[in-house]
Amino acid sequence: MSLADFPRFPLLIGPSPVHRLDRLTEHLGGASVWAKREDLNSGLAFGGNKTRKLEYLVADALAQGADTLVSIGGVQSNHTRQVAAAAARAGMRAVLIQESWVDWHDPLHDRVGNIQLSRVLGAEVRLVEAGFGIGFKESWEQALAEVEAAGGRPYAIPAGASDHRLGGLGFANWVLELEAQERELGVFFDTIVVCSVTGSTQAGMLAGVAVSGKPRRILGIDASAKPAETRAQIGRIAGRTADLLGAGQPAEVLLDERYHAGIYGIPDESTLDAIRTAARLEGMITDPVYEGKSMAGLIDLVRRGEIPAGANVLYAHLGGQPTINAYTSVLG
Ligand SMILES: Cc1ncc(COP(=O)(O)O)c(C=O)c1O
Repeated sequence: MSLADFPRFPLLIGPSPVHRLDRLTEHLGGASVWAKREDLNSGLAFGGNKTRKLEYLVADALAQGADTLVSIGGVQSNHTRQVAAAAARAGMRAVLIQESWVDWHDPLHDRVGNIQLSRVLGAEVRLVEAGFGIGFKESWEQALAEVEAAGGRPYAIPAGASDHRLGGLGFANWVLELEAQERELGVFFDTIVVCSVTGSTQAGMLAGVAVSGKPRRILGIDASAKPAETRAQIGRIAGRTADLLGAGQPAEVLLDERYHAGIYGIPDESTLDAIRTAARLEGMITDPVYEGKSMAGLIDLVRRGEIPAGANVLYAHLGGQPTINAYTSVLG
């Protein structure tokens, strides 16, 4: 099947914008740095990378006659907030399991930012004590069973909408969308820098490159601090998505382990420096859990020349800004 054969429930407002980061490029003095903005991809509750993936999952849920999306993430999950918004838009219910993935005790950490938005969006939010992990979880399976027992028709969405048959399609399509933008702009991005945790963003990109047949480097920056699991999941989802689309074998998974700050969900000085640099040079906000870490990677890789001076590098901005409200003790 080709990408166009998979139904989508419309959640995006069009192609996400691509623009050059002039002042950051000048500051780093090397490769030409651009961004493609998933934080600006949608009118739904601040958008982000999951919105694009959810177009395919929500269409599938509606086709199956489901009435409730059931998903899981950390307390400040961007993903579950996007599930809540997609459910609202589709006229469905959302049940969200919010686990204590991050040992962070900022005042109001479990009240502001994403979790506040999910509540405003009308989702049923359940706080559960359980540590970080990208695999399937008992609390999530229990919630699915409870919705069913109460006469509802649940649709299961794993963490990050990743380990799901359709999870890689959103970012496979992103590659084709980018190719059209490149033709218009007259630029080719030889390297894409992307933050990875549950894996289907980078995996989708790898599958998209396999579909298009135009090679480029998809460089993941691990923010899970469990890179072996994330790498394996990216490889599995990339292969599964390429198969689904009848494409050849995707390229090897490149996942840089130097910028995760040792633990999921907690920034180090290089993360905070990167957040301030992008904010003060470009007015572009990145967050302490994900995009600040991939921005730290981008800055360091350009400075070291590991992304060479002649390159055009594209920073995939995957959203996540609401989280900064839950990090006032280190930001602001
Ligand atoms: C803002 C942001 N950036 C990056 C990621 C990582 O994407 P993925 O889980 O598809 O690897 C996520 C979600 O996990 C996210 O919310």
